[in-house]
Amino acid sequence: MTAKTIGLIGAGHIGSQLARLAVRHGYDVVVSNSRGPETLKELVSELGPRARASTAREAAEAGDLVVVTIPLKNIGDLPPAPLAGKIVIDTNNYYPQRDGQIAELDEERTTTSELLQRHLPKSKVVKAFNHIYAAELTTHGQPAGTPNRRALAIAGNDAEAKGVVTQLIDQFGFDVVDIGPLSDSWRIQRDTPGYGPRRTAEELRRDVAAAQRPARA
Ligand SMILES: NC(=O)c1ccc[n+]([C@@H]2O[C@H](COP(=O)([O-])OP(=O)(O)OC[C@H]3O[C@@H](n4cnc5c(N)ncnc54)[C@H](OP(=O)(O)O)[C@@H]3O)[C@@H](O)[C@H]2O)c1
Repeated sequence: MTAKTIGLIGAGHIGSQLARLAVRHGYDVVVSNSRGPETLKELVSELGPRARASTAREAAEAGDLVVVTIPLKNIGDLPPAPLAGKIVIDTNNYYPQRDGQIAELDEERTTTSELLQRHLPKSKVVKAFNHIYAAELTTHGQPAGTPNRRALAIAGNDAEAKGVVTQLIDQFGFDVVDIGPLSDSWRIQRDTPGYGPRRTAEELRRDVAAAQRPARA
């Protein structure tokens, strides 16, 4: 499957940056937030003719592929029906000071991406872009084959969906390290070695292998 239109639910630090990368690489984008399309005029005008703003539901409907990039506490607001059957990229992280305490995560019984997958049972959730600072998305990318190119991790339960997201990330300028199913996505969550720093694929694989879950220790 080749995506032509990318829907973005969330147009903050990460959503706006992914929208910039998407239009730069020839995709149409539909951006949305919680306050409504009229609040996204400035971003749409910066992005140019490939971009429009809509409600979150319309972005979910319009996207061949949809990015969810909102505070984790709000994933319950997402509409499952228009996202059914679609690849949903999940950039989200858990910050209790923002999201409130979520016992299943505190006790390490699940992962942020599995929570999203549970809410969107018919979607193909792929974790991506959660461990890179927003500003670096548009400044750290390099063409494929560049020595010491930065790598980004993905996790997901659907091999075909991971293939599509791998191609997208490669186009956006990064190598990709597949770290396994959504249940392993904790290996790149906050407070793990790979969360934040610039890493090549080899370095990222090493960091992911070294990650630990303190509550399970
Ligand atoms: N910032 C980073 O460098 C970074 C890096 C990697 C991952 N992340 C993670 O990625 C996610 C997004 O982070 P961010 O920094 O981009 O956040 P942000 O700048 O606060 O932006 C959040 C966006 O989500 C929208 N939103 C909130 N609730 C919504 C809802 N119910 N429906 C539709 N849109 C909604 C907000 O819209 P309104 O403004 O209209 O409310 C805003 O556009 C978070 O989980 C974060 O932890 C962030």
